[in-house]
Amino acid sequence: MKRCKIQIMLPVIAGLALLSACGQNSDTGPVSETASVELPNGMTVKEQIEARQAQLKKIGKAFKTINDQLKAGTPDLAQIQAAAAVVPKETADMADWFPEGTGPDAGVKTEALPIIWESKSDFNDKVAALQDAAAKLETVAQGGNVTEIASAFQTTGGTCKACHDKYRLDD
Ligand code: HEC
Repeated sequence: MKRCKIQIMLPVIAGLALLSACGQNSDTGPVSETASVELPNGMTVKEQIEARQAQLKKIGKAFKTINDQLKAGTPDLAQIQAAAAVVPKETADMADWFPEGTGPDAGVKTEALPIIWESKSDFNDKVAALQDAAAKLETVAQGGNVTEIASAFQTTGGTCKACHDKYRLDD
């Protein structure tokens, strides 16, 4: 990284321009400076993207459990109820998972499409639609009526798909 030292002596603006070139030419290959930028919430861009993906994996897993049980001859209600409780809990702060700067330009692997940040209010409406449907699913699951659970599950699944179709890559 010898090349980088020179920049300290350059005027700030020229130095910044060179700094990005320096990152790209470093020995470790392409380096994304944006991935390590700290967001207002204290997480780096990379940490934020990975945190939301981990949350989404959790809800994906809960959803699969419910789906598998609904398909089973005799659904295990306890499993459905536990999984249905996961979704509202894990998506409570979902509207905060996509701060400005955490799109594909960050150089971190993400399926979030740039259009999210051009349509943030519609995106947030879709977050709210999921949260509403998931809260109802949790309530209905506690009631224990499998037909009602299947219907609420389908409605909730529709809110996942509505967002993925528009805002997630390749889905
Ligand atoms: C408001 C939009 C929105 C809603 C609603 C939504 N998702 Fe997603 N989901 C996304 C986006 C955007 C990504 C890509 C995130 C990334 O890669 O940074 C994603 C990614 C995922 C992933 C992949 C995570 C990974 O990296 O492995 C799973 C699984 C997933 N969503 C499941 C669900 C399920 C299940 C629901 C409904 C219960 C749901 N999502 C609802 C926007 C949404």
